[in-house]
Amino acid sequence: MKYPQLRLRRLRESAGVRRLVQEHRLLVENLVQPLFVKEGLSKPFEVPSMPGQYQFPLKEAAREAETLEALGIPGIILFGIPAGKDKTGRAAAAGRGVVQTAIRAIKKKCPGLLLIADVCLCEYLVHGHCGRMDGKGRVVNDASLLALARVALSYAEAGADVVAPSDMMDGRVRAIRGLLDQKGFETLPILSYAVKYTSSFYAPFREAAENRPRFGDRSTYQMNPANGREALREAFTDLEEGADMLLVKPALGFGDVIREIRNRFDCPLGAFSVSGEYAMIKAASQRGWLDEKKAVQETHLGIKRAGADFIITYWAKELAEWTKAKS
Ligand code: PBG
Ligand code: ZN
Repeated sequence: MKYPQLRLRRLRESAGVRRLVQEHRLLVENLVQPLFVKEGLSKPFEVPSMPGQYQFPLKEAAREAETLEALGIPGIILFGIPAGKDKTGRAAAAGRGVVQTAIRAIKKKCPGLLLIADVCLCEYLVHGHCGRMDGKGRVVNDASLLALARVALSYAEAGADVVAPSDMMDGRVRAIRGLLDQKGFETLPILSYAVKYTSSFYAPFREAAENRPRFGDRSTYQMNPANGREALREAFTDLEEGADMLLVKPALGFGDVIREIRNRFDCPLGAFSVSGEYAMIKAASQRGWLDEKKAVQETHLGIKRAGADFIITYWAKELAEWTKAKS
């Protein structure tokens, strides 16, 4: 069939038919809200480059988690900012560390909320890189693995439901899986940031998580944004090492990567809509240059259309509120 018998506009004429044939939907059930918890903070601090996002003191973090749960958001991902950093990142695996304490407090208040703990060292190390460093300023892979695994284990012991390594060291999924299994956490899933690019769009996050590298950049461990095939190798190796779910990050601009992974692998796949994606649309909307709700619907639907099962997004709370207001 072709025009004039075929008229694709027929399926766009009425709101009713448009609704019926819509292929993808954004559901609150598929959203995860990031949360920043800062040790020693007395009241929530709004992150300047991320309007509407806060560093929370412990108490407030638990209260915020309750609000998110009441909105129907299935899970949160926790990032911790410790009171102090050191050369080994010791505080990251401390039983009374900021994330561990937050996990226990939130679990108590919201037993039904999925608690994902981001596993990395950059917030805890003075140099701000994601792994241990040698005397020459190089991030060393293998010496970082046990440290990362210990962090993951301590989050598991505190009550995290999922651990999510974001460091991009080779072999960390295997190291984490090994230690978790050895300590009786064989049923705890690993969500691996398998495909994480070196991105300028992480800038606002570094203000929020206070993990900006003191020198250099992360291009010796995070991926080159010019590479697509390499993402499939990262996905493959992480699945081989025991990852249960994969993440692609950033989301915007990497739809092709999400689609390729979706086509090749049958595991659950998430996408992280990062801080810069948030800042960009927030800033333009505040100036009246974009309609925020429509822009967010469009970008997030695009991420789902690309093939993501779930989205980690700073808009999770607002999307849930907008959904609630409509119904
Ligand atoms: C590092 C980490 C980063 C993000 C989360 N964990 C990136 C980085 O600093 O390189 C970025 C998230 C965002 O921008 O929203 N472990
Ligand atoms: Zn890191």
